Amino acid sequence: MNVLSVVGARPQFIKAAPFSRALRARHTEILVHTGQHYDAQMSDVFFDELALPRPDHHLGVGSGPHGAQTAAMLERAEAVMEREAPDRVVVYGDTNSTLAGALAAAKLRIPVAHVEAGLRSFNRAMPEEINRIVADHVSSYLFAPTRTAAGHLAAEGITRGVTLTGDIMYDALLANAPVAAERSQILRRLSLAPGGYALATVHRAANTDATARLGEIIDALALLGEPVVLPLHPRTRAALMAADFEIAPPVRVIDPVGYLDMLALEQGARMILTDSGGVQKEAYLLGVPCVTLRDETEWVETLEGGWNVLAGAETERILAAARRGRPAGAPLPLFGDGRAAERMVEALERDDDSPDG
Ligand code: UD1
Ligand code: UDP
Repeated sequence: MNVLSVVGARPQFIKAAPFSRALRARHTEILVHTGQHYDAQMSDVFFDELALPRPDHHLGVGSGPHGAQTAAMLERAEAVMEREAPDRVVVYGDTNSTLAGALAAAKLRIPVAHVEAGLRSFNRAMPEEINRIVADHVSSYLFAPTRTAAGHLAAEGITRGVTLTGDIMYDALLANAPVAAERSQILRRLSLAPGGYALATVHRAANTDATARLGEIIDALALLGEPVVLPLHPRTRAALMAADFEIAPPVRVIDPVGYLDMLALEQGARMILTDSGGVQKEAYLLGVPCVTLRDETEWVETLEGGWNVLAGAETERILAAARRGRPAGAPLPLFGDGRAAERMVEALERDDDSPDG
């Protein structure tokens, strides 16, 4: 079987690594990088650290408004798919790269497999919500990470082709957390003591494109009363500069870090504050309390037992959530068993025909 995988943004490189390894044990993969993320710290570092194969095709699309960016990816992905004529196309998550890859393949009648199918925030103001709904509805193989996700698909009438796989980011985490513990020097480099700092990430459009929300978040980080490490997404860096926001100690801005350093920072943090989907989940899986800088989450399981709390972008709410006590006990195993990639490959092998023909 020839499988063409489309990646383009940071979390997709991380999700692609376990899938690519499981797939290549038995089949051929053609890896396509759309070029959505292109800075070395947003792209190359993950290929190096995760031993991801070099892309067979780099579409070189880069940044741009949603329509222009998606259109360029769609046009270039279609040409590659026509030339390669794969048996399946795999897309990950909910970015514009996901949307373009899924649409290009579906129009060419190539069965699409969607990794992370069925996630919903029920907030259509999020570009990601549009991307995931469209991707799910043109996919033939729907890899749901959680029961909640499979339930959302059923509620939209999608039951054929759905496999409850568990979460592939758990596969990635299990494989890489021990490596991070052994190799990452980031805590030493930043003079951080385990348990002695908070870790924050911010990049969602709703937070970066609204100066008031971004200001409230930055104020909350400054008032936390402990060291805060903020590996800054380039989008947020640009927004902070445009708004003339100053960030001062104890908040420490650093460049985006590689996956191993990120896992080490997460593992050592007393608390994580984030608007990232992946980081919320990693916090839960690592048993680190989390404050989500959003009003809703697709990963509702992380709210179980109080491990994650939704705090929106209001300073006082964020501070109250960050000052809560550590939940008792340990998080529940709600994201599968870390063997999602194998189940995905098996599902692709089992179902020879596109379910909707
Ligand atoms: C994208 C995804 C988002 C995902 C995130 C992961 C969409 C609509 N959004 O958001 O769902 O959570 O990736 O990180 O697909 N930039 C650089 N260098 C880079 C990449 C981006 O400077 O290597 C800057 C550019 O100014 C660009 C901005 O960041 O305009 C936004 O990048 P883009 O890929 O459009 O969206 P993200 O915010 O990264
Ligand atoms: N991540 C990373 N370096 C960073 C920030 C995040 O390696 O500086 C990793 C993080 O551990 C997680 C993934 O990137 O695995 C999450 O990606 P991101 O927050 O960009 O996107 P989202 O998950 O919100 O789509």
